[in-house]
Amino acid sequence: AIDISKLRDLSGYVTLDIGYKNTGATKSAITFLDGELGILKYRGYPIEQLAEKASFIEVAYLLIYGNLPTVDQLKAFQNELTHHTLLHEDMKKFFDGFPSKSHPMGQLSSLVGALSAFYPESLKPNQTPAEQNQSIIKMLAKMATLVSWIYKKTLGHPVIYPQNKYDYVTNFLNMTFGQRTEEVEIHPVVVSAMNTLLILHADHEQNCSTSTVRIVGSSESNIYASVSAGISALWGPLHGGANQAVIEMLEQIKEDGGDTDKWIAKAKDKNDPFRLMGFGHRVYKNFDPRAKIIKKACDDILEKLGINDEVLEIAKRLEEVALKDPYFVERKLYPNVDFYSGIIYRALGFPTDMFTVLFALGRLPGWIAQWKEMKENKEPIGRPRQIYTGAVNLDYVELDKR
Ligand code: ACO
Repeated sequence: AIDISKLRDLSGYVTLDIGYKNTGATKSAITFLDGELGILKYRGYPIEQLAEKASFIEVAYLLIYGNLPTVDQLKAFQNELTHHTLLHEDMKKFFDGFPSKSHPMGQLSSLVGALSAFYPESLKPNQTPAEQNQSIIKMLAKMATLVSWIYKKTLGHPVIYPQNKYDYVTNFLNMTFGQRTEEVEIHPVVVSAMNTLLILHADHEQNCSTSTVRIVGSSESNIYASVSAGISALWGPLHGGANQAVIEMLEQIKEDGGDTDKWIAKAKDKNDPFRLMGFGHRVYKNFDPRAKIIKKACDDILEKLGINDEVLEIAKRLEEVALKDPYFVERKLYPNVDFYSGIIYRALGFPTDMFTVLFALGRLPGWIAQWKEMKENKEPIGRPRQIYTGAVNLDYVELDKR
């Protein structure tokens, strides 16, 4: 038997930080975030300026390559992307096998993981920077096609193939809302709203899904496997899945008569597991700058599209009540990016269970940039320690003696 007295108690040697609330896992030059002041910057540029002025693909370039592209760099990037938007035809057989009602996030993580089977050059150990870049371009280009195909499947409609004449976001919207037989004109407000939403989600330093991408990549897994793991991490309602949960909650409140005070009381009740979805953030303890931008965008877009959505009024009432309530004030709970994003996605015509997939489409450049940075920094394999609390001094008992 093991002499317990000789076992080292690791609690004195290991930093225990369950949930990594205050543990830095890396040094990164991609995203700056100050949760107390509510500041978010990508590569030094304020999120407010990028959301107002840049296109999603410009921001993707910025995050991945570290600088805002020149006109020529942007053209070349767009051009490369449009030439990799097609999926291997055999992917369709795999895709066709999913039940049409299966959750889009489950489909997306499986499809992205499967890309490595169709593009095996990504498996090559020690890819050169040029080879690695090809895998990055393919990942980014094919994601929009995958997301739009998943959407078409939820409707039972035939998929639309990508068209090189469109930019990334318009191509995505055309594959999503277009029909096989006719060109559908995508409203410029929709293109602009989609760009804003994707930019706001594009990176957020070491959140749950990004940390997952980095840790999976740290074992030298390929980019598709790493991103697929990130998609799985994003799915949960405490992370990206919150945007779906928010709309479901708002709908429930609406059906219940719209009594926001009653639901606020429910969120405060410690005997009730209900939480106000879209409220609170691990890092932002003042306000989420993305939520400010998205709230304004939500008002603008609904007005421009002539949509009157009762849940927007409920959301605003909830926010107003919560921001004055000592429970929320003391705990520094403010609306996060997902409190209003679902209302916009809905106005654009997306069904609720597609919301988290759209978050994944937006977060992809961040995942890629962080994966690339982790490799360039030659970071070691991620491998946390633990403090063991189980039994140590047991002898095996034969089955018939237990
Ligand atoms: N509604 C009611 N109470 C809440 C909420 C909420 N939305 N969020 C936190 N609290 C309370 C907790 O009950 C806890 O109270 P206590 O101190 O009395 O026990 C206190 O505030 C602190 O909460 P924690 O869960 O410890 O905070 P943490 O930083 O671990 O969690 C999280 C952050 C997961 C975002 C949490 O606020 C939450 O569950 N929010 C709702 C889900 C959500 O919107 N997620 C999206 C996050 S943003 C994103 O991923 C894009």
